[in-house]
Amino acid sequence: MLVTSLTSDSFGLPKFYRDLLIEMLGQLHRLVDAHLRRVAMLQTVPPPNGANRSPLADWDVRSSVRLVPTRHLPPVLEGLPFSEHLVSVVGHPDVARRGDEVKYIVLGKRLHSYNRFTSNLELRAIVPACTDLGLGQVPFSIAEDMALEALKIAVDETNHARCAEQMTSDLTRVSRVRPGVLREPAFLSALNAAQQHPDRKWRSMYLQSFACVSETLITGILSKVPQDEAVNPEIRAIIADHARDEAMHHTYFSNLMRVIWSQLSGTEKDIFGPMLAKWIVTFLSPDRLTEADWLVGGGFDYADATRVVNETYEALDVSALLRSSSRPTIIQLKKIGIFDHSPTLDALGAAGLI
Ligand SMILES: [Fe+2]
Ligand SMILES: [Fe+2]
Repeated sequence: MLVTSLTSDSFGLPKFYRDLLIEMLGQLHRLVDAHLRRVAMLQTVPPPNGANRSPLADWDVRSSVRLVPTRHLPPVLEGLPFSEHLVSVVGHPDVARRGDEVKYIVLGKRLHSYNRFTSNLELRAIVPACTDLGLGQVPFSIAEDMALEALKIAVDETNHARCAEQMTSDLTRVSRVRPGVLREPAFLSALNAAQQHPDRKWRSMYLQSFACVSETLITGILSKVPQDEAVNPEIRAIIADHARDEAMHHTYFSNLMRVIWSQLSGTEKDIFGPMLAKWIVTFLSPDRLTEADWLVGGGFDYADATRVVNETYEALDVSALLRSSSRPTIIQLKKIGIFDHSPTLDALGAAGLI
């Protein structure tokens, strides 16, 4: 439109200059158009996963921290605060009998717990692991590009923690469902214990192996809450932002696991491999104390809450749930060739993961 309108003689320029100006504007228009189409494509199409292509190569135009302004929950919250299909205790008859208000409180507390779990995971485990990778302070070699990209992940994870804490603040304000007891997650106690190892090399390996496991798992929350139309749209959008970033991280940490494994000696593999199985179980096992807290928040006394949680899990096949939740990581271990290592295979089998 702009170029077309300049074909008139309205500028009073000699023909040569006018044609040159039109040509330059045409080129500029084509460049801008091509750039905008490329940005639109990068924002909607998954990146190719070629062996030489970094999963974070397009981070500037794909990451939530670069693309999405802070989202807030509205003053009136439509829908549920969390997906009831992912909170087994709300299906227990004693909870269902108490009606929708108790269900809403339990789901709200579930969201608060998820948010604090996210912040602990990101800030206390993944950001420290990425910092060590970014500064090259790890007991294995990684390419410079891979080190620099760990710092992009550190930025993402800090933003995820910020969004989670903002969501908890907003939810408390608009729904009056308070966070209540926010217990330290089991993975953090186990990680802190591992960080007491006298050998610095193994302190680092424990942290990196935990990061590889937790970042290659794709939790049901990230994959399912955004799809559940019964959940509040803003909450779904915040979790969907996080899920898109984690898809990039999944590929990065799958690659990192391959890099680490290829450099380990036989003796080191005997420690590192079984450790992966341990982290999967620690990370995915249900936290029954926290679930009882949600019910206490909904008006149950503590003894009843504990009974309801225990009865809920007795009715479930927890091993089958662990197996299905751990699939994304198990698939990567198999691809890397870790299944060829007997002590690791035995540890995965003993944990009921394969
Ligand atoms: Fe994250
Ligand atoms: Fe991540």
